[in-house]
Amino acid sequence: MTMIDAGRAGRGKTLFVVIVLAVAVVTAGATALLMNIAERKQEEHSPYVLLKPVTENDTDPATWGVNWPRQYDGYLRTAQTTRTRFGGHGGSEAMPAEKIERDPWLKRMFLGYAFSIDYRDRRGHAYMLADQEATERLSKPQSGSCLHCHASIMPLYRELGGGDAMKGFESTHKLTYQEVDAKLHETGHAHPVSCVDCHVPNTMQLRVTRPGFIRGIQALAASDAEVPHLPSIQEWRAGSREHPYDPNVDARRSEMRSFVCGQCHVEYYCSTKMPLTFPWGKGLKVEQVEAFWNATQFPDGERFFDYKHAETGAPILKAQHPEFELWSQGIHARSGVSCADCHMPYMREGATKVSDHWVRSPLLNINRSCQTCHHASESEMAARVDVIQQRNHDLLQRAAHALMDQIDAVLKAKADGATPDQLTPALELQRQAQWRIDFIAAENSMGFHAPQEAARVLGEAADLARQGQIAAIGWRTVAAK
Ligand code: HEC
Ligand code: HEC
Ligand code: HEC
Ligand code: HEC
Ligand code: HEC
Repeated sequence: MTMIDAGRAGRGKTLFVVIVLAVAVVTAGATALLMNIAERKQEEHSPYVLLKPVTENDTDPATWGVNWPRQYDGYLRTAQTTRTRFGGHGGSEAMPAEKIERDPWLKRMFLGYAFSIDYRDRRGHAYMLADQEATERLSKPQSGSCLHCHASIMPLYRELGGGDAMKGFESTHKLTYQEVDAKLHETGHAHPVSCVDCHVPNTMQLRVTRPGFIRGIQALAASDAEVPHLPSIQEWRAGSREHPYDPNVDARRSEMRSFVCGQCHVEYYCSTKMPLTFPWGKGLKVEQVEAFWNATQFPDGERFFDYKHAETGAPILKAQHPEFELWSQGIHARSGVSCADCHMPYMREGATKVSDHWVRSPLLNINRSCQTCHHASESEMAARVDVIQQRNHDLLQRAAHALMDQIDAVLKAKADGATPDQLTPALELQRQAQWRIDFIAAENSMGFHAPQEAARVLGEAADLARQGQIAAIGWRTVAAK
């Protein structure tokens, strides 16, 4: 039996304490919050007994559960149904509710794309593989890249790449979803996200494994986009840059507590045309990601888009769950508060503290998720979130309404004889407006992760959609070619 120490070395801890002390002299109020964060950073060392060594190929979480029963128990609970006003899922136990039925504008926005066929509420991690295998979006051909974020796929990547996971990953986008999924089942790795995806076996150090994330974060580091919430990237930029930024070597523990989630909860491009891409080479803000896609060409030289809108023909960019990106723009990220702080808070189990592996909405757990730092009552914290989400929801509906009006105006212009060239300005504006609406609609916190940023994006979206409507109404002023 071996005693293992789970913690990373607490880099920068001394400096941090000095800062905390300095602040204490100035303001007592702000210090209470900072001390709490410092305290969390020190909760690093929890020793445990290794009964059964695990390997890189152990994707079945039950095997790891022998050593870490508490974390395994939490993980299993992700199969339970949870519901909050905007989070978790509606619908039956068998199938989450259809988002596209709840918001008809969502369905219209996606016409021409598989998301208009089937787009449901998310639910717990335990279901990620089964829900993907069941979605009717698979009635259209999908790429093997889909499995990057829905299964414990690293052993299969290594096998396909002859030991080289990156090579294996590169080969999967050309394969069909069904081919890669079948291989996953044959090789015995058909499990949802598992312990091995976030932890080094046995030492349990946090790590990232997903090729899409590693490439994306390297491109972000190599760019000059501002990332005040990621100090290790700033340090790497100031250094020799001999090696590409490597999150598993360079990142701080507090950053890793968000990076592990950023392996999947991000905007991406996934099809057979090119490998899965995280679009961070120009930064993480909505317009920086848009600029990245605008600068991207398909291997055949064609302009990048996800689909052509069935009614108007606009070349649309589809946004997917940009939790990591939106969180990056918020005050929590900037204050060093990670995804795990809110979604996997510590809980006391006898003498030890355990990270809650029942990853779910923090609103189900305000006591441990928020009140460790905030000293308002539970109902007050819930109310603060609700106000943010309600405002975001209202603004989202307004922006979506503007987009529907714009699409109507384009259809009217078409019926009145506008040529494709005359509609180009309106369709470009549809692309921009829709990208922004979808970015906030597809993000799963209903604005909470960065409230003011979400409002900025929706305000721009409504403006762009109205400009597009005006452009469509005034199509006769555009010279026909
Ligand atoms: C300061 C706390 C906090 C941080 C930090 C945070 N979140 Fe959240 N997150 C929330 C709250 C609050 C909600 C809204 C929950 C609800 O509506 O039930 C939420 C919602 C979500 C949801 C939807 C949950 C559901 O039940 O439907 C996902 C997914 C999510 N966050 C992922 C992330 C990721 C990934 C990160 C880091 C990149 C992150 N969060 C950082 C507080 C946080
Ligand atoms: C970069 C990671 C990533 C990739 C690649 C990915 N997904 Fe997901 N998927 C997620 C995350 C995170 C969620 C949960 C958040 C949400 O539903 O918005 C999700 C949710 C889902 C859901 C449940 C909710 C819904 O949308 O109906 C389905 C089904 C799904 N994905 C199918 C697919 C398919 C099909 C592909 C390939 C075209 C794919 N996913 C590729 C990360 C990914
Ligand atoms: C999505 C990523 C993710 C997955 C999957 C995951 N963990 Fe963790 N785990 C974390 C994070 C984040 C922490 C906090 C680590 C830190 O702050 O150093 C953690 C901490 C731990 C620790 C250290 C003690 C503690 O509770 O803080 C153990 C042990 C552990 N996890 C076991 C497991 C086991 C067993 C599984 C599979 C059943 C698992 N983890 C799956 C992200 C994950
Ligand atoms: C390997 C990819 C992957 C990783 C890593 C990952 N997630 Fe998820 N997450 C998903 C997918 C996919 C779903 C949706 C599953 C479904 O609907 O079937 C999801 C769902 C969720 C939900 C909704 C739960 C519910 O009950 O509605 C939350 C909250 C969440 N993830 C937060 C996180 C946080 C926080 C982390 C990091 C600690 C993380 N996830 C890491 C892919 C991932
Ligand atoms: C690890 C500490 C920590 C945790 C956990 C945490 N917060 Fe915060 N929160 C902060 C800090 C720091 C700020 C910035 C305010 C400041 O510096 O005075 C902040 C600011 C806020 C704000 C105002 C800023 C804004 O976004 O408009 C709200 C609302 C908020 N938190 C809600 C929550 C909720 C709800 C939770 C739980 C889901 C939570 N916080 C969890 C540390 C934390």
